[in-house]
Amino acid sequence: MNLEHAINDRRSIRGFTDQPVSKELLEEVIALANRAPSSMNTQPWHLHVLTGEPLERVRKGNTENMLAGVKPTRDIEDYSEYQGEHRKRQIEIAVQLFEAMGIERHDAERRQDWVMRGFRQFDAPVSIVVCFDRSLLANTIAHFDTGAMTYGLVLAAWSKGLGSVINGQGIMQSPVVREVAGIPEDQVILTCVALGWPDEDFVANSVVSRRRPVSNLTHFLGFVE
Ligand SMILES: Cc1cc2nc3c(=O)[nH]c(=O)nc-3n(C[C@H](O)[C@H](O)[C@H](O)COP(=O)(O)O)c2cc1C
Repeated sequence: MNLEHAINDRRSIRGFTDQPVSKELLEEVIALANRAPSSMNTQPWHLHVLTGEPLERVRKGNTENMLAGVKPTRDIEDYSEYQGEHRKRQIEIAVQLFEAMGIERHDAERRQDWVMRGFRQFDAPVSIVVCFDRSLLANTIAHFDTGAMTYGLVLAAWSKGLGSVINGQGIMQSPVVREVAGIPEDQVILTCVALGWPDEDFVANSVVSRRRPVSNLTHFLGFVE
């Protein structure tokens, strides 16, 4: 698969088959992601790859805590509510997903069910917990570096036929994830990536999120028309 094809075709996948993903294939994907650039080649990232029983324990812990009303706890400072254009785009993708899933606006039960699926990491067979060195927590460049690596990870996975979604919901109860995965205190949990073989029958998997035109986000200078 060429790069342009992979970038254009990739989309977040939120429905997976039960087929396991081999450790060898995950190692190949991670080796590609690990080629990401980083500030001064610091490579601040660490990955914890969960499947099977440990992943089930994370799902259970996340779900129980969320249902019990335990306040979400993350290692990085969370943003407050999105506003303006950001809020509009947030709503747009939610509407696209709910329409695809046939979830009505006022169907509180199914909306809640969708949210809980997110906390269960969409029942994916694999969860990759993305961390970076805590010594760099105040250095926002480390967040940038780890984000760049994470995009490489989802693209590399896509190029192998694997689907994934970067899944902030999956680490909203970070102490649960840290405990089950044995993540050392000197690593900050940034996010996780839910990953597996896409379920072709899961309708939300065909949703293509919209982008604004290049002219809306780019200011060219010095070019001769
Ligand atoms: C940092 C980050 C966190 C995300 N967390 C979630 C999440 O918790 N649940 C979810 O369904 N999608 C999550 N997403 C996926 C975004 O909703 C998705 O990337 C966006 O809507 C664009 O769609 P696309 O990936 O299909 O192009 C996250 C993406 C990023 C980059």
